[in-house]
Amino acid sequence: MATTLIKGGTVVSATGRGDADVLIDGEKIIAVLQPGSALLGTDISAVVDTVVDATGKYVIPGGIDAHTHMQLPFGGTEASDTFESGTRAAAWGGTTSIIDFAVQTYGQKIQDGLAAWHDKAAGNCAIDYGFHQIVGDVNDESLLAMRSLVDEGISSFKLFMAYPGVFYSDDAQILKAMQLSRDTGMMTMMHAENGPAIDVLAAQLIEQGKSDPFYHGVARAWEMEEEATHRAIMLAKLTGAPLYIVHVSAKQAVGQVAWARDAGQNVFAETCPQYLYMSLEDQLGATSDKYGHFEGAKFVCSTPLRSHEEGHQDAMWQALRTNDLQMVSTDHCPFCMKDQKELGLGDFRKIPNGIGSVEHRMDLMYQGVVTGKITLERWVELTSTTPARMFGLYGKKGVIAPGADGDVVVYDPNGHTSIGYGKTHHMNMDHSAWEGYEVDGHVDTVISRGKVVVNDGQYLGQKGDGQFLKRGLSQYLT
Ligand code: URP
Ligand code: ZN
Ligand code: ZN
Repeated sequence: MATTLIKGGTVVSATGRGDADVLIDGEKIIAVLQPGSALLGTDISAVVDTVVDATGKYVIPGGIDAHTHMQLPFGGTEASDTFESGTRAAAWGGTTSIIDFAVQTYGQKIQDGLAAWHDKAAGNCAIDYGFHQIVGDVNDESLLAMRSLVDEGISSFKLFMAYPGVFYSDDAQILKAMQLSRDTGMMTMMHAENGPAIDVLAAQLIEQGKSDPFYHGVARAWEMEEEATHRAIMLAKLTGAPLYIVHVSAKQAVGQVAWARDAGQNVFAETCPQYLYMSLEDQLGATSDKYGHFEGAKFVCSTPLRSHEEGHQDAMWQALRTNDLQMVSTDHCPFCMKDQKELGLGDFRKIPNGIGSVEHRMDLMYQGVVTGKITLERWVELTSTTPARMFGLYGKKGVIAPGADGDVVVYDPNGHTSIGYGKTHHMNMDHSAWEGYEVDGHVDTVISRGKVVVNDGQYLGQKGDGQFLKRGLSQYLT
């Protein structure tokens, strides 16, 4: 078994920081040598196989991105990152585990949808991966099949109040699925937007000749997110289901989550980097770009970006500080402009929804530390520790402690990362929605289950390094 010593760094956890050396034996952390430890500073370098010098750097648990969509069929095309390309890009960015969404399409058996997802991922991933289950067809057969998912390590499912005719569930279906969530302890994850109302507004905009990407965000008004978030919370209250709202972008939706949490309900929520940095106005596009206003398609995602005039970004950062929002995931759902986003030329409704960010989450959130919006410890908590606790991985993942997997990132606070296509970009896309973003920090070394997979910008891992993660129930259940 190879041994690795990460020496001389500052180990940062969700609750504190301190100088310590981290010793990994094989795939597991076996010691964290803190001040007071007789071994800290002693030269065991000679007896280990690999020494990583972390002097002046932060040593953090590998990032966990609990919301990705590799190879997702959507809008007549498929998300452009394969499990191979997407997990490799994630590793480059300091993420050592993802939880992707297996999809049950309408009319399909849950088991078949899940088996297809295992086929896509197995043997292809650079880092460890788990699945949530998208239930696109809640019926008696699906509800029965969902009961055995926990035994297969899939302890959460996602429902959609949006996208009628695709993944959509009505309130009756949601109620039944939430009853199962209460009975099994599985986390109900909710895409909370009022899809039927949005579709009417979108059709009316098209009739008025408003077909540019910008109108995607106009149709998906914050009222549609607030209303659906409230409805999901009330259905969860009625049934006693634990509820996790995905990709929150409206400050009013955060208000609903905070209200439910203050009342003691098991309600949780994530936001995504795009809602912390980007705004609806980005969707206006640049007339200098060859796509003109259609360049805004790069930023089309759902829930949509919100107007910078309404203060959503500040509200999101504040909620991350106050724990009204508990996590940051990417909702990584990449599409190229060519032949993919272009499907929506002349009709924003046909633009495949999604932004590619899996590579940049750790850096973008670290920039929040640099700018004083969150603390160093909160950075670790939001990007690794809470995702592990929320989705049944904690102990193995999300922490630097003896017995945990050797998933460790050495992060250089004095480094710099210029994000952009042809710079740090490894996602399988023909553009970056993050073009031009600058981060005062840098992912130096990434270790995944004891193996150095990224060092100094070099990818050293292999396809198939990543293993399927059987997850337990959320540790936040009461
Ligand atoms: O725009 C998004 N979010 N695309 C991915 C699908 C989803 O709703 O998460
Ligand atoms: Zn969604
Ligand atoms: Zn998503």
